[in-house]
Amino acid sequence: MKILSFETSCDETAASIVALEKKPQIEFKILGDNLSSQAKIHAKYGGVYPAMAKREHAKNILPLLVKTLKEAKLLKKEANILSPKIQKNIEKLLEREGVLGKKLIKFLETTAKPNIDLITVTYGPGLEPALWVGLNFAKALALAWDIKLMPTNHMEGHIVSSLITFGEARLKPVMLPALALLISGGHTELVLVKEKLTYEIIGETRDDAAGEAFDKTARLLGLSYPGGPEISRLAKLKSKIKYKLPRPMIKSPDFDFSFSGLKTAVLYLVKKLGRLNKEKKIAIAREFQDAVTDVLIYKTMRAVKKYKIKTLLIGGGVSANEQIRKALQKVAAREKVTVYFPERELSVDNSVMIGLAGYFRFINKSKMPPLRTIRACGTLRLQ
Ligand code: KG4
Ligand code: ZN
Repeated sequence: MKILSFETSCDETAASIVALEKKPQIEFKILGDNLSSQAKIHAKYGGVYPAMAKREHAKNILPLLVKTLKEAKLLKKEANILSPKIQKNIEKLLEREGVLGKKLIKFLETTAKPNIDLITVTYGPGLEPALWVGLNFAKALALAWDIKLMPTNHMEGHIVSSLITFGEARLKPVMLPALALLISGGHTELVLVKEKLTYEIIGETRDDAAGEAFDKTARLLGLSYPGGPEISRLAKLKSKIKYKLPRPMIKSPDFDFSFSGLKTAVLYLVKKLGRLNKEKKIAIAREFQDAVTDVLIYKTMRAVKKYKIKTLLIGGGVSANEQIRKALQKVAAREKVTVYFPERELSVDNSVMIGLAGYFRFINKSKMPPLRTIRACGTLRLQ
């Protein structure tokens, strides 16, 4: 089957088409995948600005769909009459997205219905104004083309993202119980997967997410947004100076995290130091990255032992961090637990992971709510 997926939960607009076949092993192929990142636009604000994110999604989503259909060889020009009722529904769905509704209707009237079996779209968690753009756009397509729509949890997407290997039809095999460590700009969660499609969040951040801590610390060091890659680039350089930062909650008996104290410690250190030269910045970046790595590794491995975890699934933008990857690989090998990381392009937000998560729900007969009842949910939680 072919699945068309959209992702607009934060600052990336993404559209993709994947082919999935169960024969009897699942075979997976990416037919088209396109993404438009707004990181540069948000850079001057040091974070994502929701109203702007929403506007950018509305501007980018239709061109991304066209590009993706073309890439998947599913775009065929053909006159196609939409009933007045469907036109009205599409206009209503997209009434808050400027000219998007009108442009979409024009596109639909000149394009043949593509050979797509299912549409999946992120409905949460994330920035609600941003989520609504993707969701309403997907609803409009589902309506116009009469295709089923599977609303998908963004975090479930991050969990399954590590199962994909580019150029490889087979997904990586998961042995249960599995544990997912999700580390992104908006979330830091340890999720226990005892049975497929059933999730228990056993630990999460009480304040800032790991990626947010990277971004805020980068800002204190005068680096650009997103800060994760900037800090990790600096941390690779050598420095003779050494600072000490705290490892918040590393010894707490639960599996929760806290990163705002770490960021505050960086703030105090930066204030105390006054002018920062490159060497001081390198030393701060290195110690900050070490502190985050230590806390993530320690808590994750404690959960691995407690729940007798067989497979460790890492996901989210921060999982692109080389030091964190290497450290996790090392401890996982020591504990004889299999660890999977996403391809770098799939560690940040993307829609391929939304397609795969939606597919698992579809083949396991998760219920698909009627279109009009599907709502974006900024605070959606895994369960
Ligand atoms: O998953 P993601 O794309 O978006 C959310 O769902 O939040 O994650 C983005 C986060 C940003 O905070 C960014 O700074 C961080 O991932 N990030 C990294 C690295 N690359 C991206 N953090 C640490 N090291 C990296 N190499
Ligand atoms: Zn994400």
